[in-house]
Amino acid sequence: MLVHVPNLLSGEQVAHIRGVLSGTDWVDGKVTAGSQSASAKRNLQVPENAPAARALGDMILTALGQNERFTSSALAMRVFPPLFNRYDQGMNFGAHIDNAIRFVKGANTPIRVRTDMSATLFLTDPADYDGGELVIEDTFGNHSVKLPAGDLVVYSATSKHHVTPVTRGSRWSSFFWIQSMIRDEAARTMLFQLDNTIQSLRKQVGDSDEVVSLTGLYHNLVRRWADA
Ligand code: NI
Repeated sequence: MLVHVPNLLSGEQVAHIRGVLSGTDWVDGKVTAGSQSASAKRNLQVPENAPAARALGDMILTALGQNERFTSSALAMRVFPPLFNRYDQGMNFGAHIDNAIRFVKGANTPIRVRTDMSATLFLTDPADYDGGELVIEDTFGNHSVKLPAGDLVVYSATSKHHVTPVTRGSRWSSFFWIQSMIRDEAARTMLFQLDNTIQSLRKQVGDSDEVVSLTGLYHNLVRRWADA
């Protein structure tokens, strides 16, 4: 599953984040990579525990919590605190699969997040850089993703993916992972499709007996499949 969430952040929010990030320290992106992905990773990141990054991350988490499309597609149990990266000219990230489990630093007892879904929130307008496409490989082929600033893409963390070299400008983004209440991807995908169908049916016919019944079935499937 690959879901595009348009306008997760407003233009003002993107500008605010970029303003704060431009005044912070950036380090080698290998700090959060496993050994295979470290060898493929050439970019810069804001350190995980930088206070500025945490405050910006909270702003993103709030936006996620208010976004219906994200909520319905991810059915999130935990979201890893958003990180921030940057690809300047010549930087890229070769093919890799994200680590299965991530530990949230700073907590007394580290919180484990199983990475069911990966997310990239674009913070640079596509006109401001060349290259830097996020390419996600799945059984249906490659999907090349380059979205307007403020837009989010959420995709299965089981997918191999890479970021092509930036050949002009600089590409800034936030990235993070989601542990879903619905571990099974096929079940999660069906619930998202069912919810979308019910919502559009509701717009056409209102809360008919059938819509109420389908909504009940949706919730009963979530009850059956979800860890909470
Ligand atoms: Ni990755």
